Amino acid sequence: MITIVGAGIVGSEVAYSILQDTLGDVVLIDLQADLARGEALDMMQAAPAIEFDGTVRGSGDFKEMEGSELVIVMVGQARKPNMTRIDLMNVNAKIIRSIVKEAAHYAPDCKLMIVTNPVDIMTYIARKESGLPKNRVFGMGNILDTMRFRTYIAQELGVSREDTQALVIGEHGDSMVPLTEYACVSGIPIANLLSKEKIDNIIHRTITSGANVIKLKGATIYAPAAVIALTADAVIKDRKRVMSVSTCPSGEYGCSDFSIGVPAVIGKDGVERIVELKLSAESQQRLEKSQNAIRQAIAQLQP
Ligand code: LMR
Repeated sequence: MITIVGAGIVGSEVAYSILQDTLGDVVLIDLQADLARGEALDMMQAAPAIEFDGTVRGSGDFKEMEGSELVIVMVGQARKPNMTRIDLMNVNAKIIRSIVKEAAHYAPDCKLMIVTNPVDIMTYIARKESGLPKNRVFGMGNILDTMRFRTYIAQELGVSREDTQALVIGEHGDSMVPLTEYACVSGIPIANLLSKEKIDNIIHRTITSGANVIKLKGATIYAPAAVIALTADAVIKDRKRVMSVSTCPSGEYGCSDFSIGVPAVIGKDGVERIVELKLSAESQQRLEKSQNAIRQAIAQLQP
């Protein structure tokens, strides 16, 4: 069973993708219980058409998450144009603190996936407040940035997105680090295919992609929803996918005191292993800046 906390537009889109992928039964929880119930009812009525034989239910009661294998938390405020994700930190921290305690209470064996922004800091809070083991608490951030990076590489080169491979690490925020040295098209490093100027432009578009969508239509929906569903698939089907999730390393990448995006093997135990890579001098420098940005933000966290 998969619980989604937050029945807003992204939460509902994720729930529907999970049903379409027949990953398991879904519980949608929202303090606006009618919204959660209504979304679940609407999806249930689509079940015969999408050949889904399980259950989907909506509720305002956290008890409903009992026995969940995966709990996805996507409640809280979303940023508006001209805000950074870190601007949401103190308001969303209050919400996350209470919800992750409910998750740990009702679903102590779950994997807890945090989506709420600023995701690295919310994941750090979730780990501390839930008391769940490190491997079972992780945040979704750089997987989305990676998809955007791949999209723009493919667009610039006029090649299939399927053939692009890339990785973004660091904060899911303005200091994220798209790793140029590991980006390739069917094994061909992008430095062999694109000028430095073009690569820098792709990096800039990747970093600003969320803000650009928000400026145009108020919120990002399809890209985060698709990526969350993909991550749920990796956990539920124990796929051992290598994805950049927000997690608290044990010294890898010089970090052990907070959560940050790093590549990891994702499977039924959550973050099963962090993959440590040798970085170029430029990426290393950017990663250190990104770590400092997270550290500085955490220092401003209100109790
Ligand atoms: C995204 O990257 O789409 C999300 O983190 C939402 C945002 O504020 O950009």
